[in-house]
This record gives sequence, structure tokens and C-alpha cells, in this order.
Amino acid sequence: MPSYRDFHRESIDDPEGFWRREAARIHWETPFSDVLDRSNPPFARWFCGGRTNLCHNAVDRHLAARAQQDALIYVSTETGIERRYTYASLHAEVNRMAAVMRSLGVKRGDRVLIYLPMIPEAVFAMLACARLGAIHSVVFGGFAAPSLAARIDDARPALIVTADAGARGGKVIDYTPLVDEALSRAQHAPAQVLLIDRQLAPERLKAPYIVDYEPLREQYFDAHVPCEWLESNEPSYVLYTSGTTGKPKGVQRDVGGYAVALAASMEYIFEGRPGDVMFTASDIGWVVGHSYIIYAPLLAGLTTVMYEGTPVRPDGGIWWRLVEQYRINLMFTAPTAIRVLKKQDPALLRAADLSSLRTLFLAGEPLDEPTAAWIGDALGKPVVDNYWQTETGWPMLAIQRGVEALPQKLGSPGVPVYGYDLRLLDEHTGEPCASGDKGVIALGYPLPPGCMSTVWGDDARFVKTYWQSVPGQHVYSTFDWGVQDDDGYVTILGRTDDVINVAGHRLGTREIEEALSSHAAVAEVAVVGVNDAVKGQAAIAFVVLRDAGAVDDPDAAKKLEAALAATVDRQLGAIARPARVHFVSSLPKTRSGKLLRRAIAALAEGRDPGDLPTIEDPAALVLIREVVMGRG
Ligand code: PRX
Repeated sequence: MPSYRDFHRESIDDPEGFWRREAARIHWETPFSDVLDRSNPPFARWFCGGRTNLCHNAVDRHLAARAQQDALIYVSTETGIERRYTYASLHAEVNRMAAVMRSLGVKRGDRVLIYLPMIPEAVFAMLACARLGAIHSVVFGGFAAPSLAARIDDARPALIVTADAGARGGKVIDYTPLVDEALSRAQHAPAQVLLIDRQLAPERLKAPYIVDYEPLREQYFDAHVPCEWLESNEPSYVLYTSGTTGKPKGVQRDVGGYAVALAASMEYIFEGRPGDVMFTASDIGWVVGHSYIIYAPLLAGLTTVMYEGTPVRPDGGIWWRLVEQYRINLMFTAPTAIRVLKKQDPALLRAADLSSLRTLFLAGEPLDEPTAAWIGDALGKPVVDNYWQTETGWPMLAIQRGVEALPQKLGSPGVPVYGYDLRLLDEHTGEPCASGDKGVIALGYPLPPGCMSTVWGDDARFVKTYWQSVPGQHVYSTFDWGVQDDDGYVTILGRTDDVINVAGHRLGTREIEEALSSHAAVAEVAVVGVNDAVKGQAAIAFVVLRDAGAVDDPDAAKKLEAALAATVDRQLGAIARPARVHFVSSLPKTRSGKLLRRAIAALAEGRDPGDLPTIEDPAALVLIREVVMGRG
């Protein structure tokens, strides 16, 4: 194995040679003619002319060598259900689901919106889409009806797949009324909704558009649906994520590049070998779920563990017992989960036999030093922080132990991953930063395989949002601040835009502001993220009311705060609910009327907002400081 430095250098100097070699990890039904098409920057097309299929590579290809190996182990502590699927039985279930979808008219290029809890059928549905060449768009089950409706209208799906209910922390969440509301709000609702009936919701909706999966599954029990061989650059899926505006972006991914990038990452970053067991505790509605619950482990012939439940139910030892019971080798979650577990009795961790576990991977939000140190000591195994985004689909920064086990530095996710020409650039001049200076983390052209190909239906937005925001440079902006040391290690210093990260969930403060503004009492609102000891960040709202007198007495203020929180629950989902709503008489703005969010965020965290030469009304700052300190 070459050194990390040589490996990375080669990937940047000769991407064609580097990725041609890596492409051999997957099956190509038709070989590609060109490794990389750079004719239309910033777009990059990988493995042009090659034909392949994600489902074939994740499932069918393994039947020869590992048909009887577990592919998927499903555990729900919400329902007490455990199910195991070998590669052979996963293959059969995916074929059934694909046959059912096909019978409902789904064909290559159609979108299928998947709004499902953590159940095996979600995996079958995603892989069935891949098999048919349909484009899946999974919407996180925690999102409310208006968010779902917005995604329906953007993706215009031919079919929605949903369930009667989700479950979290012992509470059943009915899905069908949410889907019903979303369909009535949407302009581009599909004619049919395929329903997985878990029999959790006491009285699920029986609208005429609902088609039950179970009888159809029986009907297509022995079906075999051939894989559609897709050109490498055809879309595999669209996954919505938050940005600066209130309108979520559909991150579009290709087929061949994604397969190659994920398969390579399993060796070089995750050191996952065929037959290993990997437990990624995330949700299929997020990118970590797409890449590391489903596609990467299956592409590489591992067993993936899918878990429905929280890390603390029935008690804080549940994840460690899963490691023992299923001989889990690789575990992947977000730092928030570890901060939650840190508050549990350490005996729960020590009680389990963790000898199978090789490495714990953490991503999605900054890993603070105390948490990293605690879990590293408690497990006595390497803890590998890795930094990436929905847009990239796989890590940009990590210690790549499968290349070279460089030392860890607490507080840094590590060094740039092969394939990524990562640079720190000055926010104003676009010039490279000196080591130790804070800058915007950017990526040079082309992005490596597996990264987003465009914004669904909006190439112009892809170019403008991501490639034209660093002055004078044609680079991709991550919208994260960072600082790089002399050894190349990068530390993440937060977002440059209005995105916040609550318990590893990426949220747009603009979306929360829009939800709050829909309440009749609200005149103006600013939402900012503040540090939170467990969740990393929490959303705090500052609201100017139409009638300031409405909150004169504390009871009325409490009631209105609850009503505003409920509005966010209904519009976006409970995950976006602000931790606090403060009522103020004005918000600090520039003379041109722009909200001074960074200043508000600084004050909300008790920091100095610094010099604000363009401020219209400095008194508004004093107000914010006072309400935050409880004197408002
Ligand atoms: O701000 C960075 C933060 O999460 C953002 C991406 O979130 P999302 O699209 O949900 O994708 C998560 C994929 C793991 C980034 O722009 N972030 C992600 N990983 C880290 C991180 N911040 C610090 N350290 C990390 N390891």
C-alpha cells in the first residue's frame, strides 16, 4: 500500500487512472468508454457509456458466493421484532417488491417517494427502485405533511410507498393522516400509495388511493424482475436536504460513480470486509442511512444491521448488547448518540462482550474532545470521526485506516480523503488560506465519483449555489468553515450559511422561520442555532409579534410559545421545533434590512457579536442580550 500522501496525490493528479482501477470493484454489464467527461464543468460525468445497476451489485452479484450469509439483520426495540434476511431471501423480497411496483406502473426514470419508518420493506423498496431503474426519493419519517407535500411537488413521483405508522420511544406515529394531508396539499400527487401495514395504527386510513402491499406480495411471491442496465450517469436517487433558502434541494446522485465510490470507501475508510457485520445507527431518510445502512455494506458483501428504536430503550445498554449478540465488527453513528449514552451507567457498556467490534465511526456533526476521549477509553477501540455531507455521499475528511493509519488528532476529523481536492479559501478573496487561518472548505473540480451530479430539475441552482459562492474561484463550496494545520489535518468550525445541526439532523433556519411566520400572531422572526451540550446545537427563535401586548402576562407568553412550537411541528416536524421562543420588540438588522443572524447567534450564546458597522438600530442587540439573560 502506498503512503496516504502518495495515494491522495495520485487521486488528484490522475483521477482517470485512479478511478479506472477502483471501478473494477463493481460489475459492469457494458464497460465504460471514458472514465471521466470534463467537457461541461462544473458537471462531471463518471464512467461514461458504462452500464450497471446498483441492485445487481448490492444483491444479485453476491448470490454466487454468499447466498446463505445474512445480508440484513433487522431489530426493532419498538415492536420487539427481529428478522434476518440472507442475500438469497433479500433477493427474493426485492424481486417481489419490484414486481409489485412494476404492476403499479413504475418504470425506468420514474420517481418513487418512500416515506417509511425503519422497517426492512424500506430497504426492499429502495433496492427495488434501483432494480427497475426508478429514482427513489426517501423522505425522513419525522417530516410533517407540508414538508412531504413540497417534496412530492418537486419530485413528482409516480408512486408513494408508506406504512400505517412509525414508532419512536414507545409512541406510535400514524403516517396515513400525514400522507393524506400531504396529498391534498400537493399539486403533483400520484394516483396511488402503496401501504405497508404493520398493524400499529389502530385505525389506519383506507382512502381509495391506498393499495395494500401484503396481498400483492403474495401475488408476486415467485416473481423475478430483471435488473435494468442503466448508463452510469443516469440518476439513482434524489435526497432532499436543507440549505440557505426555505426550499430544500434535491441532491441527485448517479449510479456507477456512487457504486464505485462506496465500494472503495468500504476498504479504504471503513475497512469492511465481505462477511463483516456493520451496524449504522442512523435513519434511511438521511444520507448516512442511504450510504452506510444500505448501499455500501451490501455492495461490499457485508451484513448490515438495521435498528428501529432509540439508544436508551429498554435501557442504555441496548446497542452494546446488539454488538455482542450479532458479533458486530463496525459501528457508525452520530456524536449526539454517544453524548446520550455517556449519561448512562458505564456498567451497561462494560457488561457486554465487545470483542467483535473493531472500529466506531462517527459523523454528521462536530465530535467534541470530551466525547471522543470518553468513548475511545470506554471501548478501547479506534474511534474514527469523518466529515461529509448529503451532497458528497461519502467522507471528505477522515483518517483512512485502510490506506495508512495516521495518528488521530482530537478535535479534527482528519485529512482529505483520496479523490477530494480539498482547499481552505479566504471568504473574501478566494485565495488559499495559510495553515492555521480560518477559511471556507472548498473542493476543486471535478468532484470525485459518488458526489451529487446536480440539483434535481435545476442545473442552474447547482451551479449557482455550490460553484459560484467563493469569489474568483471555480470551486465547490461546502458552506463549512475550517482550519488546516501544517500536517494537513482539518478542524470544522461550523457552517457559513444558515444551516444548523441538531442532534446530527441538518435543518435550515430559514425553513423554521417560514413555519413560524405562518402563525397569525407573528410579524417577524429570526431563528439561530446555539450550542447544546447533548444535541450539539439547538434552534432558538426570536419573534416579533403583531401585537406586543399579546404576551404581557407570563401565562399568555407560555401559551403562545407552545402554539408556535406546535406550528413548527405541523409544518416541518417535531425535529425542527425550536428549543426556546423569545419574544422581542425588534430584531437587529442592517440598514438595508438584512437580519444580522450571526450577531443574534453570538448573543444567544452569550458571546460578543463584534463590530457591526452596518447595523440600523443597535438597541435591538441590547434587547436580544436581555431576553437571553432572562431579563426581557
Ligand atoms: O456542517 C457539516 C456537518 O454536517 C453537515 C452535513 O450534514 P448532512 O448533509 O446531514 O450530512 C451528514 C453526513 C455525515 C456538514 O456540512 N458535519 C458532518 N460531519 C461532520 C460535520 N461537522 C463536524 N464534524 C464532522 N465529522
